[in-house]
Amino acid sequence: MTAIRDNTTSSPEVLLEACDIDQDTDYTIVLRIDYDSMNKYPAKQHARRVAAQFNVTGGLIYLTGQQTRLLEDSDQSRPFRQRRYFFYLSGVDEADCHLTYDIRRDKLILFVPNFDVRRAIWMGPTLRPEDALSRYDVDGVEYFEALDQYLAHWSQNNPDPLIYVLHESQKPPAVFAVGLEPQYDSSKLLPAMDACRVIKDDHEIGLIKRANEVTTAAHTAVLQNVSRMQNEAEIHGTFLQTCVSQGAHSQAYEIIAASGENAATLHYTKNNELLKGRQLVCLDAGAEWNCYACDVTRTFPLSCQWPSEEAREIYEIVQLMQEECISRIKQGVRFRDLHLLAHDIAIEQLLRLGILRGTVDELRPTGVSMVFFPHGLGHHLGLEVHDVSPESINALQNNKEGLQGENAVEACMEFLTEMSPCTQSAPTLKAGMVLTVEPGIYFSRLALKEAKRGFWKDLIDMDVVERYIPVGGVRIEDDILVTKDGYENLTTAPKGAAMLEVIRQAAGV
Ligand code: GLY
Repeated sequence: MTAIRDNTTSSPEVLLEACDIDQDTDYTIVLRIDYDSMNKYPAKQHARRVAAQFNVTGGLIYLTGQQTRLLEDSDQSRPFRQRRYFFYLSGVDEADCHLTYDIRRDKLILFVPNFDVRRAIWMGPTLRPEDALSRYDVDGVEYFEALDQYLAHWSQNNPDPLIYVLHESQKPPAVFAVGLEPQYDSSKLLPAMDACRVIKDDHEIGLIKRANEVTTAAHTAVLQNVSRMQNEAEIHGTFLQTCVSQGAHSQAYEIIAASGENAATLHYTKNNELLKGRQLVCLDAGAEWNCYACDVTRTFPLSCQWPSEEAREIYEIVQLMQEECISRIKQGVRFRDLHLLAHDIAIEQLLRLGILRGTVDELRPTGVSMVFFPHGLGHHLGLEVHDVSPESINALQNNKEGLQGENAVEACMEFLTEMSPCTQSAPTLKAGMVLTVEPGIYFSRLALKEAKRGFWKDLIDMDVVERYIPVGGVRIEDDILVTKDGYENLTTAPKGAAMLEVIRQAAGV
């Protein structure tokens, strides 16, 4: 009985099992689908897509994965985090690997660390080629020691050997050992990979969904226990404990568990203050699954009741901003238009509360809403929490384009540019993009102090604002897949009334 493993296509791996053929006897062919391999990360498909971006017929893509490194002045290893570009073309989340893709021959080869018995005794064995070949969507696996010979052979058998690398600093280490001087190109690979990475395939969307499932469990566990918690550290701990125990060992970014006024600091990560007397908690936290991120923010009270009318009002404004923006998402929409829509809603509602003075039309071009909503509406999500893209979804083609607010003082120019109207040249959404939609309203004492000194001081009623300071900040954030006709919300963590209900049920009220 022989097993023929066909790794040369990116279709689900098929194992052919055949009896020896004898003319006088019947024989059977059993076709067995290896279901595990159907779930292989589609590295080969990614390699083909990247090469197609170059529009060339030959050349070799070379990528180096993250190498084992020690902490500074220490014998302890730095926590391993795979290089994302390497992962995109390999699906391999292991240290000390290398990868080549021969564009003309369509061959993706993984190089794994040489076997080292001392390392294996201390750290466990590294990848064996035969295991790697069945686990990953590659055409061949070799030990690292074969890399220089492979490159030498490839260079000698290609008329104009050109090796595409991500950065000048990431050339293959071994070629020099065999005295070759191939040509390198470090200009094409990165933009080509960014153009591919920005559109997610079904496998990638599945990984982001799985990260969201774990994250939903972790946010829910926090809601179920928050009424008994005393310190932000318990929120951090409960979130992390839930993710790790569900198999998600890494967070996509540092956990932000900000209570009260701490929530006005956008990236507050100390997570060590007492909750007593605080109105709301802003928990911005997302697990990573197989290197794919999710990014979810929920803002909630410590009990199932809103602690103040002000807290409820601000929550409902942010909820409205988010709902209105998400409902408009589909291919062809300019994300920047949604960012400006969120600002219009914020201005309208802050006027209603008496926090701002004037009219929407007067206030829009001044950029004053950026005192309360100082960040972008969202960003791409994928292998990075702020994922790569050929151009920012929030970009204007030219930063000065359409600038309004002639009375603006120099210090406000940057804000005003942010608030400039969307133009035809701003990028549009494409099906397959995954984005966060994360509006927020914050009462930052620092931002308000700056505003009081400058151009916006007459536009804000500081006496009214004073009542809202203890609310701190509210942000609500979901991960949205853009489709041709609309969107799919990949985030399932409870928010709004459902979120309060989880707190209520757990508290037995
Ligand atoms: N949620 C973290 C960030 O977007 O920076």
